[in-house]
Order: sequence, then C-alpha cells, then structure tokens
Amino acid sequence: MNKYILALDQGTTSSRAVLFDRSGAKVFAAQYEFPQIFPKAGWVEHDPKDILDSQLHALRDCIEFLKTGGEDISEIAAIGVTNQRETTMIWDKSTGEPVYNAIVWQCRRTADTCDRFEEQGLDKFFRSKTGLLIDPYFSATKIKWIFDNVDGVRERAQRGELLFGTVDTWLIWNLTGGRVHATDYTNASRTMLFNIHTLEWDREILGLLGIPECILPEVRNSSGDFGVTSADVIGAEIPICGCAGDQQAALFGQCCYLKGDVKNTYGTGGFLLMNTGDECVESKNGLLTTIAWGIGGKVTYALEGSVFVSGAVVKWLRDELCIINSAEETAALAESVPDNGGVYFVPAFVGLGTPYWDSDARGVICGLTRGAGRAHIVRAALEAIAYQTADVIKAMEEDTSALGLIKVDGGASQNDFLMQFQSDILGRSIIRPRNVESTATGAAFLAGLHCGFWENREELNRVSQKFREFIPAMQESERSRLTDGWKQAVGRSLMK
Ligand code: G3P
Repeated sequence: MNKYILALDQGTTSSRAVLFDRSGAKVFAAQYEFPQIFPKAGWVEHDPKDILDSQLHALRDCIEFLKTGGEDISEIAAIGVTNQRETTMIWDKSTGEPVYNAIVWQCRRTADTCDRFEEQGLDKFFRSKTGLLIDPYFSATKIKWIFDNVDGVRERAQRGELLFGTVDTWLIWNLTGGRVHATDYTNASRTMLFNIHTLEWDREILGLLGIPECILPEVRNSSGDFGVTSADVIGAEIPICGCAGDQQAALFGQCCYLKGDVKNTYGTGGFLLMNTGDECVESKNGLLTTIAWGIGGKVTYALEGSVFVSGAVVKWLRDELCIINSAEETAALAESVPDNGGVYFVPAFVGLGTPYWDSDARGVICGLTRGAGRAHIVRAALEAIAYQTADVIKAMEEDTSALGLIKVDGGASQNDFLMQFQSDILGRSIIRPRNVESTATGAAFLAGLHCGFWENREELNRVSQKFREFIPAMQESERSRLTDGWKQAVGRSLMK
C-alpha cells in the first residue's frame, strides 16, 4: 500500500513540494524561491521556466528524501497540484516554449482595458456570468494584452498552435509530458472567461475579447483525473489526482465542508473564503462569487473577500518604520500596554478592498496622544488586521446570514494576541489547526480522496482534528466601542 500523497504548492514567490502520510502529517517539505520580474511600475511577471524549474527542484528533493530513507517514488500514491491563481501563460503546443512571461495576478497593466469595459457598462455582463468584478487581477484581460502586444500571437492562437493556462495547467502539461491540457473548476472560475452557472467557457466573453476557444484547457473536477506524470520528467508515472487554486485548496484543507464555513489566510494580504454550498450567492457587499471545488461533477460555490494588507503591515513596521526587529516580538509588545490607547492604524497602503473598494484610500495612524508610544502603534497594526478581517466576515454574514465555523491559517495566525483579539472583535470562536499548511493539505486531500488514499470527508475531518480554539472574552459594549473607533479611522483613510 502506498504511503504518501505529494502536494505541489506553486505560490507567488516560491514553489513548495510537501509529502503527507495517511495520518495527514507532513513528512517532508522542500521549498524554492524564484525571481520576481518588475518590468515597469505596477507590472509583475514570472518566467514560466523559473516556475517549472523551482517546482521540479522541490519535487525532486521529496524523491531524494524517500531514497535516503530506503523508499522510492512508487510510495507516492498520487500528486495534488495547487497554485497561485489567475497568473496567465501562453505557450507553443509543440515546443512548450512560452510566447511571453507569465503575467502575474498582481500585475495592473490591463487597468485601462478594464476601465474601458466598465465605461461600456459591462460590469453586470461579467459579474452575472463569472461572479467577478472587472479587474486586471483576473486572467481574461492579461490574455488579451498578450494577443495585442506580442507579435503574431493572435494569429498563431487562431491557427491552434498555442495553449493558454494558469499555473496549474502549465505544471500539469509539463509534468505529463504535454499529454494533458487541463485545469479545474476553481482555477477556471478565476479567469473571468468561465461561466460559473453553465460550467463552460463563455462564448460571448471569448468573442468580446477575441480569444479562440481552442487555446483553453479542459475544465475538470478538482478531485479527479489529471493524467499521469511522464517518466521522462520525474522518473516514474504517478497519477495526478487533484488540482485547485491555492485559496480554494486551503478551504478544502481546513475541512470547511459545510455551508457557512469560512477560512482566512493571514498572509501578506488576507484571503477569506466562505463555503456557500450549491448556492451561487451574488454579493451585495463587494464580495466575489467563485467556485470552491468541483467533485464528482458537482460544484460547491464560495464567496471570497480580500484584505490587501494583512501580515504586510508587520513587515512595514519592521522594514520602513523600523520600530520592531521581528514579527515574533509583536504579540508581547501589543500585550505590554493595557489597550490601544485610542490609537488606530488603517494600513490602506494600496487602497482598501472588501467591503470598501476604494483604490485611492491611503494609510492613516490616528488617535495619537502624548502618551502613545511604539507599543500602541504595534498593537494598532495587529488590531487592524483583525478589524479588516471582521469587515469581510461581516459582509459575508450579511450576504448569507449563515456564518459557520471560522478557521485560520497563514503566517500571522501564529500570533496568539492577534487570534484572541480577532475572536474578541468578531464575538465568535476561531479555530487554528495545528498544521497551518492548509493549502498543501488541501491539494493532498483532493488528490487522496480521488485515488482512495483517504476514503471520504469524515476521514479527512478525523486526520486534521488537532486544533486550538480562541474563544471571545470581550464585553459587547467594549466590542462596539472599539469597532466604532475603527470605523471612524477608516473614514479618515477613504477618498471616495
Ligand atoms: O489570487 C492570488 C492568490 O492565489 C495568490 O496566493 O499565496 O501565492 O500569494 P499566494
């Protein structure tokens, strides 16, 4: 019986490979960073070969680890792929040569195209089909940019010589030696080309953008068959049985299987997803509608909200304001004062996301008095992470009135002060799993479910059982006093 599932987690700044055993425990992990390319202000690219090489490097380390322990690659039952979403690539079908660098989700180069679509009143058109707001974030306008700006690409695409893919598709195509050109429902739902109701590439959108359907990957279940790896590429034929965008994988890895369950990843930014079951909820509060996963031909939907600056505010305190040496010291510093002393910090460095959507909002620190010091500012920064999260969760609750469990992961979820304050300000318990590697876990779970490594979701719930729960300990009056202070501070940062 095979012992492991291998998760490949291709993120924005690094590629990870993680081996999991049947108990859901991480047995080994390897990680490689790769270069970020910034050709102009606001533009972000990756070299597709860097993405692939770093991912293969991490994967081969896992194989070496097995060999060192006297085992071999055949102990891997299946591979699950998870990835930075939306990042866009086009490559030659016969040579595998990319026609341009990968245009990363963060890249704003297509802002003008998006503005034009908005001026033409196409918001509703895109929203009703894809669940997304018109934004350079998503793949659609990035593909159009490559067509408009790289010589001959449109014609070659029309002749059927090129393939498009997000990072999952690029990896799977390469791992299978060019045999499988596929993506899953979650990644497709982030392209702004996929109709999340009919579960097909949307011909009207493709027509509007001039994208030929023949370049698009086949859309498959997130827990399903993505072919087998080519022995030429990794030395053996291992089935690829799972694929999902990283935020959705984290939702699955956190076992948010019931309608209303929410996961929040406290990374550089914050990504919140709420399982809305088979209901495709259209938000009235600035949330996106997206696909949580597709299993057995049936999709589960989610609402998604993002906090642009989450853990990044701690980095800013360290690198720009230089008032801390490391993130680890922030919890103790915050706790060294009895309260925020009236200080609020709105880290709107790049505007504010859900539910404010004001890209011109800018950061403010307010409420300073002669008695305020470093500890107050650090505390206000941590509290801001929690307030912003609470704003998104409130929006989710208003849209669905069905808030379930709230589970957390990502770097800043290790900060106990922040987690307790988060629970206090929400007035709800939050759950932190022992293993905060939710994204890779989710990819492993999706793959392991399909190949029978794990039987069902009940078993997944059992293997990921260990957690710490933070229980609210704040009086309601204090919660509303603090929340009012936060709202006033946000009011000072908004430009709209
Ligand atoms: O939508 C972008 C997101 O998938 C990126 O995640 O973890 O690579 O920053 P990450």
